[in-house]
Amino acid sequence: MIRRCGNDIVLCTKHTTYAMRVLDTGHLEHLYYGASFGWDERTPDADICASCDAMAARRVFPLGNTISYDKEHPALTLENICLEISSQGKGDPRDPFVAARTADGCATLDFLFEDAEILRGEKVSPEGLPYALAEGHGDGFACDTLHLTLRDMPAALKLELFYTVYDDSDVISRFARLINESKYPLRLERLLSLQMDLPDDGWMLSVFHGAWVREMKREVLKVGSARIVNASSVGTSSSRSNPFVMLHRPDTTETAGEVIGLNLLYSGDHYESAGTNAWGKTRFLSGISPEGFTWMLAPGEHFDAPEAVMLWSGEGFGGISRGMHRFVRNHILRGTWKDRPRPVLLNTWEAAYFDINEDRFLKLARCAKDCGMELVVLDDGWFGERRDDTRALGDWTVNKKKFPSGLKGISRKLKEMGLGLGLWIEPEMVSVDSELYRAHPDRIMQAPGREHAEGRNQRLLDLADPSVVCYLTETIGAVLEEADVSYVKWDMNRIFSDVYSPSLPPERQGETAHRYVLGLYSLMKTLTERFPDVLFEGCASGGNRFDLGILCYFPQIWGSDNTDAICRARIQEGYSYGYPLSCVSAHVSSVPNHQTLRETGLSTRFNVACFGSLGYELNLCDLPKAALDAVKEQVSLYKKWRSVLQNGSFFRLRTGNTHKWICVAEDKKRAVCLLLQELAQANMPDERFRAAGLDPSLRYRFYNIPRAVDLMDFGDLVNTQSPVHIRQNSLMHRAVAKVYKLDGETEDHTVSGSMLMNAGITLAPAYAGTGFNDQTRCFTDFSSRLYFVEAVE
Ligand code: DGJ
Repeated sequence: MIRRCGNDIVLCTKHTTYAMRVLDTGHLEHLYYGASFGWDERTPDADICASCDAMAARRVFPLGNTISYDKEHPALTLENICLEISSQGKGDPRDPFVAARTADGCATLDFLFEDAEILRGEKVSPEGLPYALAEGHGDGFACDTLHLTLRDMPAALKLELFYTVYDDSDVISRFARLINESKYPLRLERLLSLQMDLPDDGWMLSVFHGAWVREMKREVLKVGSARIVNASSVGTSSSRSNPFVMLHRPDTTETAGEVIGLNLLYSGDHYESAGTNAWGKTRFLSGISPEGFTWMLAPGEHFDAPEAVMLWSGEGFGGISRGMHRFVRNHILRGTWKDRPRPVLLNTWEAAYFDINEDRFLKLARCAKDCGMELVVLDDGWFGERRDDTRALGDWTVNKKKFPSGLKGISRKLKEMGLGLGLWIEPEMVSVDSELYRAHPDRIMQAPGREHAEGRNQRLLDLADPSVVCYLTETIGAVLEEADVSYVKWDMNRIFSDVYSPSLPPERQGETAHRYVLGLYSLMKTLTERFPDVLFEGCASGGNRFDLGILCYFPQIWGSDNTDAICRARIQEGYSYGYPLSCVSAHVSSVPNHQTLRETGLSTRFNVACFGSLGYELNLCDLPKAALDAVKEQVSLYKKWRSVLQNGSFFRLRTGNTHKWICVAEDKKRAVCLLLQELAQANMPDERFRAAGLDPSLRYRFYNIPRAVDLMDFGDLVNTQSPVHIRQNSLMHRAVAKVYKLDGETEDHTVSGSMLMNAGITLAPAYAGTGFNDQTRCFTDFSSRLYFVEAVE
């Protein structure tokens, strides 16, 4: 609901209230964002205005050494007021929301309120950019939009702000549009997407930092007088700093306390800044990174900033995560695959790397089929002369020497086996050693007169140039048409350097990076609309472009090139703060792991990967029968629980050395729990598994699938039981281990939801060095267990 009561405007979601006021100068004062005041359509205007009066700052005297706004308002200093949007030059020295230089070189701007319009049941979205969908699962109007118009008269600029509230979510989305109504070109230096001025200090900012194979590590920073910036300047939203952040209190926990989750629907360089002013007011900003950005706005033209989303929760980080997950599932994901179960797949990359050919591919496919998988992805190495990563990107024709049947042929062969074909592509890139580059060296980003810097031996095609986008639409469209694929993995393995578009004049080069992103979106839009049934997966050397912008086109993203189960548990936990599990694709790979050389058990690799869109990425044909049987079991278990894992409510019950997760079905009748330990410790206290998110009034069965314990795990302790001496790792040791299996612990309890959530199940004790029986949980380094919860009559 959105209400305007005189000069006060309030936006209400089911559990939150957002309030602002138009001052008599025309500035928009931000009053409040937080827990709902319970206002609805029937609340008298007078009550709303009285509350807004009580919240508004009182400006009684000028503050020393600040700028008074004007003679009539000597006590109004823009430096110490919570503003809905800010600019430069009229006394607010804080980080601005919008900055531009008019044709006379002036950078002073001052946007004042002109009009507020409430668009009932309507949503306005930025042009050429990804946007949140209006249709939710609520009743009546799915959403309402507040359309504010502000104007800077001297510069003849109009600023429009759009805020949308949704019936089925507490998320508010917003974006800004700047229109040049003057007769002169405007040099826009920034137009951000979201400003959040909070009346107090004492905030922390959680950001998600990382690198290749080390994505999404949460870092908590104190917001203080020195501004903090979380930004990307590598051309993509980046593994360095994800655009999802959280503002929260120092004592906020997983289950309690105030948090504001903030994210941007944008896949290029982004910028989030937070700082307090001298009076303890906090400003947060988010949008396209202003670093290196300029945009020449001709008379009559407008510029749209990307859409941003914000969500307040008083229920800690978990509250934010579940609210964001629901919003992403309902309003960001779209198309055929929005709610569809994602197929279990086998990917050829870590199975064969570049050493892939039709024979090997089909052998892998047959094994995948035997294990119950649904799709096989032909990763890098299928096209042109692509023998390694030094060549052939851009030459998107199948290498017939490697694949004599062509893409159509292998797709048909897979179909006959009941499998779908997935295909890897990296459309945005070109290798210098390629037919494409030799024919069109002018189609790349290239700083004039400079040697090009290298990144995985490839260059960026100039997607800022519409003719390149057009070329790619045709070329990639033809590949997908020919291949008859049901899945596409869209990779992007180079960060930006030498940023310069030969298609743009010198004064517009500051537009290149953003124009690239616009070109990318137009390419993704055309191809996803042309192939609506294809499941597209985003990828950028793993998670170098994991954001809501990509998720508006591709419903899942390869979370990381790191497939080590322990690293993945941390990385997936990082994503889970802002993104639902179904969006993160996760694979079981071989050991020693290719990124860490760590050995983890097959069950732990599966137990982590199943909390995502599951795949396998290893040479199945080389696995011993016992392992293949285990994989078969895993795939069938995943299919049984897939809808819960992909669409359930996710709770991080514990993080750190021990990871405890639970994912609960929407109807609360089923749940899957994970217990994972990084490093074992001796003589551990009892482990209680306290669930969350269940129905307290239902009865549930909590159980595990008991697993046999491998005698080899006990090393030479075997001699404490064996009547004859067995040398560790000897043939005899192995032979005995093969036939003699120890029973693993059993958990099987039928209790109430209330008991399961409040007291929890005391699990069988972990091995402690003083004995072992079938009631002992053999819990070594990197061990894990899945527990299943099912409502019973
Ligand atoms: C990087 C991706 O993240 C990998 O999964 C794989 O597809 C390679 N590129 C292929 O070059």
